Formats: sequence, C-alpha cells, structure tokens
Amino acid sequence: MQEQLKKLEQEATEKVTNVEDLKALQDIQVAYLGRKGSITEVLRGMGKLSKEERPVIGELANTVRTTIQAAIDEKKQLLERAELEKQLENETIDVTLPGRSVNFGGKHILTSIIEEIEDLFIGLGYEVREGPEVETDYYNFEALNLPKGHPARDMQDSFYITNELLLRTHTSPVQARTMSALDGAEPIRMICPGKVYRRDSDDATHSHQFTQIEGLYVDKNVRMSDLKGTLDLLAKHMFGTDRDIRLRPSFFPFTEPSVEMDISCKVCAGEGCSVCKRTGWIEILGAGMVHPKVLEMAGYDPKEYTGFAFGMGPDRIAMLKYGIDDIRRFYTNDTRFLKQFHEA
Ligand code: PHE
Repeated sequence: MQEQLKKLEQEATEKVTNVEDLKALQDIQVAYLGRKGSITEVLRGMGKLSKEERPVIGELANTVRTTIQAAIDEKKQLLERAELEKQLENETIDVTLPGRSVNFGGKHILTSIIEEIEDLFIGLGYEVREGPEVETDYYNFEALNLPKGHPARDMQDSFYITNELLLRTHTSPVQARTMSALDGAEPIRMICPGKVYRRDSDDATHSHQFTQIEGLYVDKNVRMSDLKGTLDLLAKHMFGTDRDIRLRPSFFPFTEPSVEMDISCKVCAGEGCSVCKRTGWIEILGAGMVHPKVLEMAGYDPKEYTGFAFGMGPDRIAMLKYGIDDIRRFYTNDTRFLKQFHEA
C-alpha cells in the first residue's frame, strides 16, 4: 500500500508538471484527490491493515495528499499568471494609433437661420406657430384676399392636390388660421417658419420647395412706423448693425399698403457692385399693413384693430449672408456643403 501511494504521488506530480491549462489541472485534482479519486480509493483498503500499520499508512497518505495539493496549487498560480499575462498582451492598446473619428451631425443651415430669426422675435414677445403644408384653398388664398380667379394668384403658381387642397405656396395661411382661431378676441404677435411649394422650374435661384418665415402683429394702434422699426431691427440682427434698410412700394393682395424691404449692400457699402446689381441695395422681404378685408374675414374689426405682416425666405438670407450661389444646395444635402455651417 505504501508503494501504491508513493507511485500515485509520483504519477500525480509528474502530470502536474506537464499540464498546460487550468482545466486539465482541475481534472488531475479530481482524479487523485477527489472523493472518488485514486488516493481515496487506496485508503478504502485501510480496513484490512493491522493496527500498527494503520497510523503509518494514514500519515503517509496525508503527506502524499499534501504534496500533490501543494504541487497543484503552485502550478495553478503559474498557469493563472501566464493566462493573465497573455490576456494583458492581447489587450494592449497602442496609444499611438490614430483614433477613429466620430461623425457629428449638426443643424442644417436653414434651421440655423430660422432659429436666429426666431430668437429675435421671441425676445420681442412673438410666439412661434406652425401650420399644415397641405393647405386648403381657403386659407392659402381666399382668407388672404385672393378670391378664386384673382389675377394675383398667378404670382404663386401652385401644386393642387384637389380643387380645394394644395401644397401651401407661402406661410401666410398660418397667420390666417391663427387670426381666425382667435376670432378678433385678442392681439397677436407671431412668426411662422416652414416649407412652402411653388410650381417653378428649379434653377440656381428657384426651387419648387423652399422655406419662408413670416411675422404678424395685430393689435390696436399698430402703425407703419412699428413695421419699419421692427424690420430695421431684423435687418441689423441678421446682417449687422451697419446695415440700413429702405422700403419701396409694392403689391400684395393681403397687405395695404405693401412694401418691399431692401438692405444696404455689405459688399460695396452702398456704392454699387455686382452683388447688388449696381444699385447699392439688396431686396430681402415683402411686408405691409394687414389688409382690412383680411382682418375682417378672420373676425377682427378693422376699425379697432390694425396690423402688419412681413415674409421672407431663409434660403435667400443664407445665400446673401454666406455668398451661396445656388438655392438647390440647401435641398440636395451634400454633407460637404452642409458641414461648412456646423458650429465647431
Ligand atoms: N406671403 C408673401 C409671399 O410669399 C410674403 C409676404 C408676407 C408679403 C407677408 C407681405 C406680408 O410672397
């Protein structure tokens, strides 16, 4: 029995020396020291031994167990360390490698322009309102003093869906809707940005879909001078405090009188250059005092209430501000173009 134990010890320690991975080591432990392991198996035969032999064999068995266990423990440590080292090596990061760049999105340039305008008007107590892009003939035209068959409808060639529905040609219907909803009950200060559609052939200065932002102020005693002061503020906010404005008489069916606003040309400071077509002025927007008929149709008493309205194209503003040569660039969304306007 002594020999058997010695042999097992030698066998086990040899195996431990040669083993290469933790799983196999674990197997050895079970095979020799486990409850059904070889050593236990040998000890089962102890009952057959004499009284004198038993303690001797018992002690030897313990020593053998301890020796094997010690060998296993030592090997286990070694293997574990080797494994850790291998893992560390595999996971080494080369900090000198170039990083993977992350692509950030950003605001579309037209969104930024609209937000800039919104900021100014929110500061002046205006509300931002939106309306449907598929609009009724009534709000897009009739409520704005453009009855069916009115020649001025030709100014805004339209995409009709049915006889009574069309893609809105301007954002003015949002104003008509807001006024009608309030039905003459209270003053209004609002701006409405959004997409609009006209049947134009696309070229460098025309797009069948573009953006507008309009403003409306209705209250008692609103005057033309209020409009002029507001537009002056807007021009300076968008283009710089050194800009002047001028108003020229114009025509819109929904405003009377109607004006068009120009700003002084930044490129030549009013001297005349190719950007301003030698006039020193650049046309920016249309505006006017809300037509009494428009007020009346929406339920406002034109003897009591007056108002002004203005409408402009963020596309045109962006083109002037950044020297962009083609309106289609805003809608074809080439990221190389759009990225130029992302904030750092
Ligand atoms: N809605 C007009 C247009 O699209 C612009 C405008 C708005 C003019 C408000 C005057 C007042 O041409």
